[in-house]
Amino acid sequence: MTEARITVNGKETPLFPATPHTTALDFLRERGLTGTKEGCAEGECGACSVLVARPGVHKPTDWVAVNACLVPVAALDGQEIVTSEGLATGGEAGTPPVLHPVQEEMAVRGGSQCGYCTPGFICSMAAEYYRPTRCAHADTDQSQSAEHAEHTEKADAEHGPNGFDLHALSGNLCRCTGYRPIRDAAFAVGAPTEDDPLALRREQAPPAPVATEYTGDDGVFLRTNTLAETLHLLRERPDAVIVAGSTDYGVEVNIRSRRADCVIAVDRLPELRELHVASDHIEIGAALTLTEIERRLDGDVPLLAELFPQFASRLIRNGATLGGNLGTGSPIGDSPPVLLALEASVVLADADGEREVPLAEYFTGYRQSVRRPGELIRAVRVPLPLSKVTAFHKIAKRRFDDISSVAVAFALDIEDGTVRKARIGLGGVAATPIRALAAEAALEGEAWTARTAEAAAQVLRAQGTPMNDHRASAGYRSAMLGQSLLKLYAQTTEAVPS
Ligand code: FES
Ligand code: FES
Repeated sequence: MTEARITVNGKETPLFPATPHTTALDFLRERGLTGTKEGCAEGECGACSVLVARPGVHKPTDWVAVNACLVPVAALDGQEIVTSEGLATGGEAGTPPVLHPVQEEMAVRGGSQCGYCTPGFICSMAAEYYRPTRCAHADTDQSQSAEHAEHTEKADAEHGPNGFDLHALSGNLCRCTGYRPIRDAAFAVGAPTEDDPLALRREQAPPAPVATEYTGDDGVFLRTNTLAETLHLLRERPDAVIVAGSTDYGVEVNIRSRRADCVIAVDRLPELRELHVASDHIEIGAALTLTEIERRLDGDVPLLAELFPQFASRLIRNGATLGGNLGTGSPIGDSPPVLLALEASVVLADADGEREVPLAEYFTGYRQSVRRPGELIRAVRVPLPLSKVTAFHKIAKRRFDDISSVAVAFALDIEDGTVRKARIGLGGVAATPIRALAAEAALEGEAWTARTAEAAAQVLRAQGTPMNDHRASAGYRSAMLGQSLLKLYAQTTEAVPS
C-alpha cells in the first residue's frame, strides 16, 4: 500500500491530511483550487463539477464530469482529475493564460455573470467537448474521422449542430445568466485540436484503480482490487457502507453529517463492471455507471434508454449505478420500476457464493431488502427477449434533474391486438417499488382497446398505498397512475406527442 495521492491538474498531491470522509470538493478548495464551488452539497447544482479520467467507452480514457461535493477524495486515490483551473494553458513566466475553448466561448457569449456557477458549467461542458462520439458539424470540425461519423447525432433542440448534447449540462444550475447564452456557448465549440493535451490523454489508459486503506479521525475508507477480497472484507465488516459513485451516501455525509466507521468502495471492481449479452439475458455489472450502461447498450434495451435521460442529471449518472439505486432501496428510485417491468433479477454475492433473486421479491420494506449483511449486488440480469411495447413515465415537477412524484414503467407483449403479457413497475406509491399485479391481470388476455385500457387504468389507480407529501398528494399520485396507462394506449394507437 503506497501513500494515498491524487493527480490534480497534472500535479501529484498527497491526500493527507484529508480524512476518509473529506469530499473532493473540500480537498480541492483547501488546496487553493477555489474555482470548484459549493452550491448545494447534494449533487443538484453542479457548481462543484470536476473532470475525472475514467475507463472510456469509445477510447481508452473518457474525461467524465462528476460532482466533487459527493465523492470522498479517498475514492480518487491514484486517480487523475482536472479542475476549471487546469483547463486553461500557458500562464507561466508572466505570460497570460490561454483560455480553453469552452472558457473562451462562455466568455465571449456572455455565459457568465456573477460567475459562481461558471467553473462547474465549464467542467461539464469540457467533458462533453471531449466526448469522443460528439458529432461535429462540417464547418466546425474538419477532422472528424469516419469512426466518429458513425456516431453522429442529429441536431435538435437539445443537440447543437456541433453534436453537443445539452443533457451534459442538466446537472448545472445558473441563477443569474439565463441559459440561452450558455447554450449558445455550448453549441459554438468546435472539435479539440490535434495537440490538445486532454484530447491526447484520451488515447492512453486511465490510471488503474489502486487498493486503498485510508484511515483517519472519521473512519476508514477501503478499496481492494478483487471481488473476492472485497467479499472477505465485507464478512469482517458487515456494518460497512458500500459505495460506488457515492451519489447517495455523499448526500448523507454532507446534509446529515453521517460518518460510517467503514466505507468500502466497489466502483472499480472488474467483476462488477462487466456487461454481456447471452442468448436469454443481458447481465449488467452493478458498478457500471448509468452513463456507461447507456452508452454501451446504445438503445438495445429501449425501456432503459427511455429511463436514462430522466434519471437525475448527467453529472449524477456519471457516478450512479444500478447496484447503488437498488442497494439504497428507495421507494422513489427511478430504476426499480423499469427493472421490475423488465422482470429483472439481482445477483447477490457473498464470500460463500452467489444467489439470484427476482427483483419482484427483493424489496421487503421501506429501504429494506433481502440482501443480507456481508452481501453485495454483483449484477442485474434482464431476461430476453424483451417486450416490444414499453414506456417509462416519470411524473415530476421538472423535466430533468428531479425526484419522481410517481414513476411508471410498462412492458407489454401485444400479439394480434391482444395483450399476451403485461408487466408494470411502479415507484412512489408504496414503501417499496412494486409490481402492479392487479392491473397486469386486468390487461392480460384482453384486446388492446380503449375500453380495456380504461378498465385497467381504473384498477391501476387503486394500486399501492400512495401518501400525501410535499411532492404530491395521494390523490394526484393515484390519478397519475391511471393517466399513465391511458397515455401509453394513446401512444401505441396514434401518433401523439409524448
Ligand atoms: Fe451542488 Fe455539488 S455543490 S452539486
Ligand atoms: Fe451567477 Fe450562474 S452566473 S449563478
